[in-house]
Amino acid sequence: MIHILLIISSLFTFSAHAAVQDFCVADLKAPESPAGFSCKPAANVTVDDFVSTGLRLAGSTDNIIKAAVTPEFAAQFPGVNGLGISIARLDLAPGGVVPMHTHPGGSELLLVTQGFIEAGFISSANAVYVKTLKKGDIMVFPQGLLHFQVNAGGVAAVAFASFSSAAPGLQITDFALFANDLPSSLVETTTFLPIEVVKKLKAVLGGSVDDFVSSSLNFAANTSNIINAAVTPAFSAQLPGVNGLEISISRLDLAPNGVIPMHTHPGGSKLLLVTQGVIRAGFISSANKVCIKTLKKGDIMVFPQGLLHFQLNAGGVPAVAFASFSSASPGLQITDFALFANDLPSSLVEKTTFLDNATVRKLKAVLGGTG
Ligand SMILES: *[C@@H]1O[C@H](CO)[C@@H](O)[C@H](O)[C@H]1NC(C)=O
Ligand SMILES: *[C@@H]1O[C@H](CO)[C@@H](O)[C@H](O)[C@H]1NC(C)=O
Ligand SMILES: *[C@@H]1O[C@H](CO)[C@@H](O)[C@H](O)[C@H]1NC(C)=O
Repeated sequence: MIHILLIISSLFTFSAHAAVQDFCVADLKAPESPAGFSCKPAANVTVDDFVSTGLRLAGSTDNIIKAAVTPEFAAQFPGVNGLGISIARLDLAPGGVVPMHTHPGGSELLLVTQGFIEAGFISSANAVYVKTLKKGDIMVFPQGLLHFQVNAGGVAAVAFASFSSAAPGLQITDFALFANDLPSSLVETTTFLPIEVVKKLKAVLGGSVDDFVSSSLNFAANTSNIINAAVTPAFSAQLPGVNGLEISISRLDLAPNGVIPMHTHPGGSKLLLVTQGVIRAGFISSANKVCIKTLKKGDIMVFPQGLLHFQLNAGGVPAVAFASFSSASPGLQITDFALFANDLPSSLVEKTTFLDNATVRKLKAVLGGTG
């Protein structure tokens, strides 16, 4: 008997408890899970959790798509959490478009309240459903399918989209493909788009072109300059992926008369690998010891951090080398450029180098310095 009463009372407790679970207003301070946000304590819930005035105003259409989507999903409108429903406002300036996109989590019901919108979706059987909608018209877009909205009048259009989910999500296909660091070559392979088109769209949509990969060292740089040589760095400024990793690389091209003049890398040590031609290289230690060697293809030489050093072509044919550094931004200070290619006063250069007035003036003239 007691046993039965216990069961009945626990059932009653359960149903009484279930009856008060009318809502689960999102506790936005807690993390969101695939099942939604956790519930705010009922005592903390107010009417303002169930009302939003956020869709009164048009979103800014001053952007690349001339359109704005203002969501009132659970993250913006806590009252819909757990209720399987939400809404968003669409503003489309003339020429505006909500590009091809999906809502992975819910179906959409669009109601046009101003202007004209050409809208459509593509089914998984690849059938196309497109229609131009006027004020008062509605159209439904099944969950997860690719769809779009385009302004089809010459005037601003407004629509409200209801969703069968409190968190339907929004994935704009072009942004997913071109506005992040998905490698261009993978986009090319998985979309059949030509690589030039991929790179162009990445540039337009702000996608970083491969933070961890660079092909900029594949090519010889132009050595038609005063030193007949070029340094192509892949430091953190050029290859963001090395930032913070205490490593980077650069390519050296030396034409037959080329020289990388006496210089230092204040921020890192260097390991030089010759891959073509013959290079004579050396450094001077702070104890004033000189270490010089002629390097051939496959040879390596290390240059300790901050010490003066140089490389020059010793083979009569173009030479190529790759320099690895123990820093993501080792820096490069070419001594002659520091002394003669800026406006450091000649008198100070003379005093601090023991060079005579005529030599200082001549080198400033050659290297473009003043003062
Ligand atoms: C609920 O309200 C109490 C009292 O105002 C506050 O201390 C608590 O942080 C609130 N909890 C949440 C989840 O908002
Ligand atoms: C290399 O640079 C020089 C000087 O700036 C320029 O005249 C020449 O056209 C460049 N060569 C190439 C192949 O770009
Ligand atoms: C250096 O030479 C120039 C031209 O010969 C002269 O005008 C200038 O006063 C000299 N400067 C010094 C510091 O001797």
